[in-house]
Amino acid sequence: MAHTIFTDFQPRHAELFGKHTVNLGHRFHEAEHFSDAGLARLIERTPRHAYHVNTMDVATHDPRSRREGMIDGLSGAETLEAVRKGHIWVLLQQPQDVEGAYGDMLRAIYAELAERVPGFKSYKHKMSILISSPKVQVYYHADVPGQTLWQVRGSKRVYVYPNTAPFLPQDRIEKIVTGEAHEVSLDYQPWFDDYADVVDLEPGRMLHWPLNCPHRVVNADCLNVSFTTEHMTDELRNAYAVNYANGVLRGALGAQNLARPTSGAGLYGRLALTAAYKLSGLQKRRRSGFKIDFKVDPAAPFSVQSIPAFELRK
Ligand SMILES: [Fe+2]
Repeated sequence: MAHTIFTDFQPRHAELFGKHTVNLGHRFHEAEHFSDAGLARLIERTPRHAYHVNTMDVATHDPRSRREGMIDGLSGAETLEAVRKGHIWVLLQQPQDVEGAYGDMLRAIYAELAERVPGFKSYKHKMSILISSPKVQVYYHADVPGQTLWQVRGSKRVYVYPNTAPFLPQDRIEKIVTGEAHEVSLDYQPWFDDYADVVDLEPGRMLHWPLNCPHRVVNADCLNVSFTTEHMTDELRNAYAVNYANGVLRGALGAQNLARPTSGAGLYGRLALTAAYKLSGLQKRRRSGFKIDFKVDPAAPFSVQSIPAFELRK
């Protein structure tokens, strides 16, 4: 198979992938479906259940400043203009369901990774596109699946922290996995930055980090377009199940030092417990509804027009 995704993949990257932060070149910044016209078209076609628009305080680290909004009565081009002038981001989920070009990309990325990284078998591939204003931040958080961030336009500073305490306390990742805590409920201290990999991502670069590494992102003073890809592997699924089962056990028993088996009866018991909990619907459902309290308006300060709050069920 022709290798068309990565421009500077070397043998060492196969050894580093998934274990350390990996920064590689790609060509998606040249793709037509990431041009203004391509993104405007995608915004117009994306259904309400497949996007989020958020605003936040760009001067603090306070996740509580984040608000959810809606796009109403704007063309795709007007929405892009609002992002360019505002303090908002637009997150478009599963764009491959709307336009085939994104699905082709997603398949090509994981096909090439499967060829280049021996033993890398992934599934549950997902993609989200983030179109974000100058200077906005994505606050300190950790994600559940394997994550890659691809920079298409603009520039952003990405901080990636170790996936262990004190950056990621074990009981916090368990709560995030079981859905008891939101990803952004992680505590952040400015001194954590001394222990981070800090990367200025430019168009045509991507970053992949080990599972659950906390990270935060600060946009430079320009419009940013990036996308994330997500995957699971057997190894990641096992880590997920151990975190999930230990989260359940910790909740039930208050146990302090739970084993984190990677094979054998301890692992299989945890896989079974996780499956049983998920099947029985005992896990707490979160994100059942969103409070929408603004409308995107390129004429309003920060492109944010407050509206009477209402609940959106997704
Ligand atoms: Fe993330």
